This record gives sequence, C-alpha cells and structure tokens, in this order.
Amino acid sequence: MAKKVLVTGGAGYIGSHTVVELIKSGYDPVILDDYRNSDASVLKRLAQIIGKEPEHIVCDVCDQQMLEHIIETHSISGVIHFAAYKAVGESVENPLKYYSNNIAGLVSVLNVIKQNPEIPFVFSSSCTVYGEPEGLKEVDEKTAKSIPTSPYGYTKWLGEQIIEDLFLANKKARMMSLRYFNPIGAHESGLIGELPVGKPNNLLPFITQTAAGIQDKLFIFGQDYPTSDGTCVRDYIHVVDLAEAHVKAMDHLLSLQKGCHETVNVGTGKGTSVLELVRAFEKENNVELNYTFGPKRSGDVIEIYANVDYAFSLLGWRSTRDIKDAVRSAWKWEKSIRNIK
Ligand code: WQD
Repeated sequence: MAKKVLVTGGAGYIGSHTVVELIKSGYDPVILDDYRNSDASVLKRLAQIIGKEPEHIVCDVCDQQMLEHIIETHSISGVIHFAAYKAVGESVENPLKYYSNNIAGLVSVLNVIKQNPEIPFVFSSSCTVYGEPEGLKEVDEKTAKSIPTSPYGYTKWLGEQIIEDLFLANKKARMMSLRYFNPIGAHESGLIGELPVGKPNNLLPFITQTAAGIQDKLFIFGQDYPTSDGTCVRDYIHVVDLAEAHVKAMDHLLSLQKGCHETVNVGTGKGTSVLELVRAFEKENNVELNYTFGPKRSGDVIEIYANVDYAFSLLGWRSTRDIKDAVRSAWKWEKSIRNIK
C-alpha cells in the first residue's frame, strides 16, 4: 500500500512538481489547497502527466480541526508543508497577511504533528534566512541566520525556530526544514510551471513574460555590484531537482527510528548572475530579450549560493539539471500557457 503524503499548497508551483515526483517514487500524495494562491486547473494537467488526478482536499491550513480529521481519516504517513505566501515585496506592504497565514498555518499543521509525532514533517524554508551573509558568498547550514529583510523572510526564519522549539519539547517528532535557493523552470511536459499572480516579482517568470510580449521590457536591477559582471548572483535550482529533494527528505525521515529536526540547503552549489541567466535564456531559446539596466532593488542580496554537501551526505541528493534545462523548460511552459507556437 503506497504511503499517503499530505502536500499542503500542493496545487502551487513547487507543490505540484513535488506531487509528480512523489508519485514517480511510489508515494500517494494528497493535495491540500484552498486555491487562494494557485489554480485548480493544475489538477487536470497533473492528470495528463501522472495518468489520474491526485486526491485533493479543499482546506485552509489554518483550520486545525479539519487537518486533524484529514490525518485520522486518510491514514497520512507524512506531511510536506508548502502552503504560504511568498512574495517578498507584498509582504512588506501587507505584513499581517503574511504573519497570519504563514505563521498561523504552520502552527496549525505543527499542532497536528505534535499529536502524531510518528508522522514526518517537511517544511518549505528559504535561503532568505541567511540574509546578506557577511562577506560570504557560499553558505552552509552552519552559516549564521541573519535578521531577514522582509516579513516573508521572517516567516521562514521564525518558522524554522518554531519547528526547532517543537522538536526540543517533543523529541519523537521527525522534522526537516529545506532551505530553497532560487527555484526556476518547469516540468519537461510544459503542462505545469510557475503561474505568478499579477506582475512577476521573480526574475525568470519576468524574463519569459517579456519574451512572450506580456511585459514590455526586463529591467535588470543594478549593474555595478561587486560581482563578475556587476549583476547580482543567485543559486538557481531547477524546480524538478527541488521536488526530488522533497522525496529524498521524506524517504530519509520515514527511515528514522528516532526524532530529529534537520535544516538542509537545497541548491545547485553554483552561482549564476542575472546577466548570465538572461544570456542563457536568449541562447538556449534563440530569443532576443528586450532588457535594460535599472536602479538597484532595495533588500537585494549581492551574491549568495549554497554549499550542498550536507544534502548529499544526509539525503544522497544533489541537483542534476542545469540552467539550460531550466530556461528551456520555463520558456516551453510560458509558450504553452500563452498559446505561442
Ligand atoms: C533574483 C535576482 C533581482 C526581477 C526571492 C525570495 C526567495 C525566493 C526566490 C521564494 C535579483 C533580479 C529580478 C527583475 C531583476 N522566494 N531581478 N529584475 O530576490 O533572489 O529571492 O525569490 O521561494 O526567498 O527572496 O529572487 O527572482 O526576485 O531576484 O534584475 O525583474 O534577479 O534584483 O538580483 P530573490 P528574484
């Protein structure tokens, strides 16, 4: 009997890709989503990839009573918690929206885990907890977390602390916080991918929308940073690699006989500049992008990328896809949703 894994926010970008990889690895994912930040049409597109619609439940993660009922009636063996808002800029304008949903939703799920410590829990954290690592470019899990520069970042920083405190009080719980770097790209089928609500905040969706004519021009925020080409550097990880890391995390936690709270970097271990990503997109897709340089964006980290040794030693996972795979798949996805040949 396939183990059931509850995937909160499973209709979202990373959640839907993780649902595909869970099924490929023999799990039976149950999507829990209220579609406030995703589109239910993903279910039909997932069916085209995996052969049938995954089981799905409409539920707000803050509804703890409903969560308890689901855990009891669906014999859930694991939980992966994606459901949260993630737009850095929006979180500055509307912090309470982020604290009420991201923190209250996490606490609601953790209350259920506390009652069922035999159920492993994986948390969607972010490299944003490192802030601007003083003088460092490459960060490992022992690099000190710094005070985040946005309420969104704080919900990840505090989220990890809440999980750590829960573990210290409940040593049987098996929990893992995965620190994502910059997720990009889409499933090779072109059937699922990133669907930003409104104007994209993140770089690659803005690039693909510019190439599709949805946005007039890409502004590269800053060109005189102390980096190889003056533009910011990030660790861009293919979303399918990221999804596979979640499966490995669940495999690992299920194999344990005792409790834990692990924090693990999930990146490629390589830095790519904004300009390098733009040029890779143009070259791989044979598309000329309309871009110009604009002012720096406040709060931007200059350069950060992951040390990924621990992900390999603990989970036996490392990324296998590169920037070319990501920009090609992202463009295929954009063309499919815009009906561009
Ligand atoms: C990347 C680089 C921008 C848009 C954020 C969150 C992080 C994670 C990923 C959720 C920066 C530059 C961008 C544009 C640009 N979120 N850029 N023009 O800020 O590294 O990380 O998203 O999982 O937690 O903090 O990602 O894609 O916004 O920016 O020049 O139109 O691209 O300045 O240098 P970021 P990003």
